[in-house]
Amino acid sequence: MISWRKHYKQTLIAIGLLLSTSASIYGQDGDPKNGEKLFKANCTACHALDKQVIGPPLKGVVAKVQEEAGLGTDWLHKWIKDNKALRESGDKYANKIFEDYNKTEMQQFPNLSDQDIDDILAYTTNPPEPEPEKAAETPAATDAGGGAADKTTTNIVIISLLAIAGLLVWILIKLRQLVTLGQSEDLAGLNETRVRSFSEIYQKYHYVGKGILTVLAILATYGIWNWLMWIGVYKGYKPEQPIYFSHKIHAGENKIDCQLCHSSAKYGKVSEIPSMNVCMNCHRTISEYNGKYLEPGKDKAFYDGEIQKIYAATGWDAEKQQYTGKTQPVEWTRIHNMPDFVYFNHSQHVVAGEQAIISSFNKKNPNDKIDVVCKACHGKIDTMNVVQMANDFTMGWCIECHRTTEIDMNNGYNKEYFKNLHDKLKKQYPKDGGKITVDAIGGLECGKCHY
Ligand code: HEC
Ligand code: HEC
Ligand code: HEC
Ligand code: HEC
Ligand code: HEC
Ligand code: HEC
Repeated sequence: MISWRKHYKQTLIAIGLLLSTSASIYGQDGDPKNGEKLFKANCTACHALDKQVIGPPLKGVVAKVQEEAGLGTDWLHKWIKDNKALRESGDKYANKIFEDYNKTEMQQFPNLSDQDIDDILAYTTNPPEPEPEKAAETPAATDAGGGAADKTTTNIVIISLLAIAGLLVWILIKLRQLVTLGQSEDLAGLNETRVRSFSEIYQKYHYVGKGILTVLAILATYGIWNWLMWIGVYKGYKPEQPIYFSHKIHAGENKIDCQLCHSSAKYGKVSEIPSMNVCMNCHRTISEYNGKYLEPGKDKAFYDGEIQKIYAATGWDAEKQQYTGKTQPVEWTRIHNMPDFVYFNHSQHVVAGEQAIISSFNKKNPNDKIDVVCKACHGKIDTMNVVQMANDFTMGWCIECHRTTEIDMNNGYNKEYFKNLHDKLKKQYPKDGGKITVDAIGGLECGKCHY
C-alpha cells in the first residue's frame, strides 16, 4: 500500500515535471541499465563508482552535489555536457571541484542527450548490486574500451553461430520433407524418379550425412571457442619463442642480473631484448646444460638442443671455435606492447622511481616482497620458464600506481629537479599528512603518457 502511494506520488511529480519541460531535474527518472552502458563507454577511463580514479567516485553523486552545494541535476547536465564552459561562466562549485582535483580537465560530452545523462545519473544513483567488486578483478573490465569491443565481437560470434545452427536445422527439415514427399502417394504430377532416387540416396546415406554435419559442427564450435579465448586476453599472454629461453634458469637458478641482458632499461624508453652477441658472452663456453634443475617434461638433451640454436643463429662453429659468417636472425615474439599513442619510459621507473616503487610495493605486499624493481610491474620473472604478462598494463593500472606511490624526494634526481617545488607540494597535499605521490608531480597529466 505504502509503496503504491509512493509510486503514485512519483508518477504525479514526473507528469508535472514533464509538463513543465524540465524532467531532467530528477536524475532518478533515467534508465540505469542504459546508463551503465553509457557510463562504461564514456566515463570509466576516469571514473569508477566507489573509488577515485582520475576523477571522483560517482556513486550517489546526485545526492552529493545536492548536499554540498544545493545544486540539482540541471547543474550536473551542464557540467557533464561542457564543464569548461560552466567553469568559465564563473560557476563557483565547478571551479571548486576543478581546483580540488588539481586542475585536471574532464572531457566534454556535447553529444550526450539529456536522456542519456539522466540514464547515467540513474545508474550512479542505483547501480546494480554485485557488479563493482568482481569487475575490478577481470582484466577485460579494467580496460573499458577493449572490454566493450570484445563484447560486441562476442555478440556477433554468438549471433552467427545461432544463424548457422538455424540453417542446419532448416536443411535437415527440408531433407525430411523431401523424403516424406518421396514416400507419399500423391506425388503423381511431380518428377517421380528424381525425387525417388534422391530419397533413396538419402535413406541409404543419411547416417554419413549426419555424421559429417556433426563433425563440422564440433570443429566449428572448437575453432570459435579457441578464437574467443584468444581475443582480448593480454594478462597471462605467453607466446612460444624461437629459442626456449628460460628466465627461471638464467635469472632464478643462476641469479643473472636482469640488467645484464636488458641493459637499456636504465637509459631510455625501451628495455630491449638482448642481441645474440650478449648470449654468446656466456654461451661461447656454455655449450651444454648441466644444471640440476629440469622443468617437468624437459631433459638435458632438450636444453642442449636449444643452446645449439644460439650457435646456428650466430654462425658459431663450436668445434673449430670460430664464426663461419653464416647467421640467421632470431625473431623473438614481443610480449609487452603498448599502443603507439602511449609514452612509457623505463628509466623514469627503473632509475628515478626505483626506491619509491620497491618500498611502496613491499609496504602493500608485506608477505611477498621484491628485491628488484622490475618485479613490481613484470611479476616474478625469475620463477617463470616462459615469460608471461603479470599485469594487465592498462591505463587504470598505471594511474593506480601513480596515485598510491609516494615518491622519493631525496633521491638525486628529484632533489635537483624539484628543489623549489618540494615545500609547495607539501602544502598542496596536506590531505595525506604531507605524502607526495606521483600524481603530485604530474603523473596523472594526460600529456605525460600520451603523445
Ligand atoms: C578524461 C577524464 C574524465 C572523463 C572521461 C570523465 N570525467 Fe568526470 N571528472 C573528471 C575529473 C578530473 C573531475 C574532477 C573535477 C575536475 O578536475 O574538473 C570530474 C568530475 C565529475 C563530476 C563532478 C563530481 C563531483 O563530485 O562533484 C561528475 C558528475 C562527472 N565528472 C561525471 C562524468 C561523467 C558522467 C562522465 C562520462 C560521461 C565523465 N565524468 C567522464 C574527469 C573525467
Ligand atoms: C640471460 C639474459 C636475460 C636475463 C638475465 C633476463 N632476461 Fe628477460 N629476456 C631475455 C630474452 C632473450 C627475452 C626474450 C625471450 C622471452 O620472452 O623469454 C626476454 C624477455 C623478457 C621480457 C618480455 C619482453 C617482451 O617481449 O615484452 C621481460 C618483461 C623480461 N625479459 C624481464 C626480465 C627481468 C625482470 C629479468 C630479471 C629478473 C630478466 N628479464 C632477466 C633475456 C634475459
Ligand atoms: C651471464 C651468462 C649467460 C648469458 C648472457 C646467457 N646465458 Fe644462457 N645459460 C647460462 C647458464 C649459466 C645456463 C645454465 C647452464 C647449466 O646450468 O649447465 C644457461 C642455459 C641456457 C639454455 C638452456 C636452458 C634454457 O634456458 O632453456 C638456453 C637455451 C640458453 N641458455 C639460451 C640463452 C640465450 C638465447 C641467451 C641470450 C639471449 C643466453 N642464454 C644468455 C648463462 C647465460
Ligand atoms: C613501472 C612499471 C615497470 C617497471 C618497474 C619495469 N617495466 Fe619493463 N615494461 C613495462 C611496460 C609498461 C612495458 C611495455 C612498454 C611498451 O610496450 O612500450 C615494458 C616492457 C618491457 C620489455 C619489453 C621490451 C620493451 O621495452 O618494450 C622488457 C624486456 C622489460 N620491460 C624489462 C624490464 C626490466 C629488465 C625491468 C627492470 C630493470 C623493467 N622492465 C621494469 C613496465 C615496467
Ligand atoms: C609500480 C608503480 C608504477 C606503475 C605501474 C607505473 N608507474 Fe609511472 N611512475 C612511477 C613512479 C614512482 C614515478 C616517479 C618517478 C620519480 O620519482 O620521478 C613515475 C613516473 C612516471 C612518469 C613521469 C612523470 C613526471 O611527471 O615526471 C611517466 C610519464 C610515467 N610514470 C608513465 C607511466 C605509464 C605510461 C605507466 C603504465 C604503462 C606507468 N607509468 C606505470 C610508478 C609507476
Ligand atoms: C600514467 C599514464 C597515463 C595517464 C596520466 C593517462 N593515460 Fe590514457 N592511457 C594510458 C595507457 C597505458 C593506455 C593504453 C591502455 C591499453 O592499451 O589498455 C591509455 C589509453 C587511453 C585511451 C584509449 C582508450 C582505451 O581505453 O584504450 C584514451 C582515450 C586515453 N588514454 C585518454 C587519456 C586522458 C584524456 C588522460 C588525461 C585525463 C589520460 N589518458 C591520462 C596511460 C595514461
